[in-house]
Amino acid sequence: MVESPIVLEVRGLTKRFPGVLANDHIHLKLHKGQVLGLLGENGAGKSTLMNLIYGLYAPDEGEILVNGQAVAIHDANDAIRLGIGMVHQHFQLVPVLSVTENIMLGNESLRDRFFRFLDKKTARQRIVDIAQQYGLQVDPDALIQDLPVGVQQRVEIIKALYRKADILILDEPTSVLTPQEAEGLFEIIESLTAQGVSIIFITHKLKEIKRVCDTVTVLRLGKVVGDADPHTATSEELASLMVGRSVLLQVDKSDAHPRQAVLQVERLNVLDDRHLPAVREVSLEVRGGEIVGIAGVQGNGQTELVEAITGLRVIQSGLVRIDGRDVTHATPRTVTEAGTAHVPENRSKNGMVKELPITDNLVLQTYYLAPFSNNALRFDPAIEENAQALVTQYDVRTPSIFAHVGTLSGGNQQKAIIAREFSRNAKLLIVAQPTRGVDVGSIEFIHKQIVSMRDAGTAVLLISTELDEILSLSDRVAVMVGGRIVQTLSADELDRERIGLLMMGSVPAQEESA
Ligand SMILES: Nc1ncnc2c1ncn2[C@@H]1O[C@H](COP(=O)(O)OP(=O)(O)OP(=O)(O)O)[C@@H](O)[C@H]1O
Ligand SMILES: [Mg+2]
Repeated sequence: MVESPIVLEVRGLTKRFPGVLANDHIHLKLHKGQVLGLLGENGAGKSTLMNLIYGLYAPDEGEILVNGQAVAIHDANDAIRLGIGMVHQHFQLVPVLSVTENIMLGNESLRDRFFRFLDKKTARQRIVDIAQQYGLQVDPDALIQDLPVGVQQRVEIIKALYRKADILILDEPTSVLTPQEAEGLFEIIESLTAQGVSIIFITHKLKEIKRVCDTVTVLRLGKVVGDADPHTATSEELASLMVGRSVLLQVDKSDAHPRQAVLQVERLNVLDDRHLPAVREVSLEVRGGEIVGIAGVQGNGQTELVEAITGLRVIQSGLVRIDGRDVTHATPRTVTEAGTAHVPENRSKNGMVKELPITDNLVLQTYYLAPFSNNALRFDPAIEENAQALVTQYDVRTPSIFAHVGTLSGGNQQKAIIAREFSRNAKLLIVAQPTRGVDVGSIEFIHKQIVSMRDAGTAVLLISTELDEILSLSDRVAVMVGGRIVQTLSADELDRERIGLLMMGSVPAQEESA
């Protein structure tokens, strides 16, 4: 096979932040029509590198070449002019505007003079054409707020293509997608590359690297540590290249020894943001010493169920009891004080205060208690000692415990939340999507911690859209479809295919489970 030409090359690219060498003389080559996978631990410097290529940061050293020419990229407009598009992990769409309006909006600042008068009808037609050409199904008139995440992502991709991008950067595009949506994205990627678009694809999921990438470059501590052939390298090899040691990709656990019930949910009914029923007649029990997994395609009421239990959402009817105490209409603080730890699904909304240092974030619910305070005064040495211990134990990569959480890499923010919640000796641990955006080495660690908390008697409620994660951790699995628990399976009934079918609603539900 003749090698296709190099469309993008990075030579000696270096970026320093205070106390961190985020990118250390990086070399990278992207070939036309290929997918280059970028793999690396949390904080390895992947997003920083992409932000340099897209003009969001200025490099301290090194150069970027597009089609063999050294280029200066001062901002995103420069990048776009050079045919580089980027889909950020947090989409930058306006919820109340339509798909067409969002795509046009992005273009105005760029070439106002020519496009200001371009009417919506022409734009709409171009969007329809692009969508057709690359198999990106989307309704150009739909409002963004009515679209599922996977479709919003397609809008972001169309937006880049609309601006004539032929180099596309996808930073952890699958971390917010359901497995079905991810598969849809892979088909889109195939259609894009077949038509000459070149893609940089960041993920922590080794299976995805093998599924879509032509080549892989691995970063560690800001440096390129090697390239791999995704077709021949095993997941174990990729993991150890990335982490620098061998990683246990399976969970090691013994049988559960459940004790008395810690969480009791009875006939719970909850509405979603649009006031439509989201949780219907859900009854559920989690005992100390067991992990109960909730499997389900995203959007089937799991989010609302957790919000209701943790006091973040109003309960219409039913009952929630934690450790024997009625917390049905309790505030989040009361639920916490009843012995609940919660790793929320949406970390940027409910998990952390980005403008505050790590120290404060690690005592967000306990700052007013001993040893962090004596009622009147904050005791900083204890708060700092706590932060230092947790950052070390949970391997949160940061130059300092005083760094603001917003400067941490995505996966390290998640590790910080996990550290805070897991360290609270809770009776009930509710974890939603615990390993989203987290590297394989840290997944191994987090999974071990969940199992050891179970073994110490904690009741664990696990919500995850990753069926693998549910299957490898759970002692029992409740499958949620359309707001109902359609079936609860015990450890000896856990069968991947069966749960998959139940999740799709294609197996008739048995008696409603208690
Ligand atoms: N704006 C910033 N200010 C200070 N430090 C930063 C900033 N952005 C990134 N860093 C630091 O640079 C390093 C690399 O971060 P980066 O976000 O590139 O990692 P990553 O490989 O994308 O990780 P993840 O897999 O967790 O997303 C980290 O140590 C991070 O704390
Ligand atoms: Mg990142």
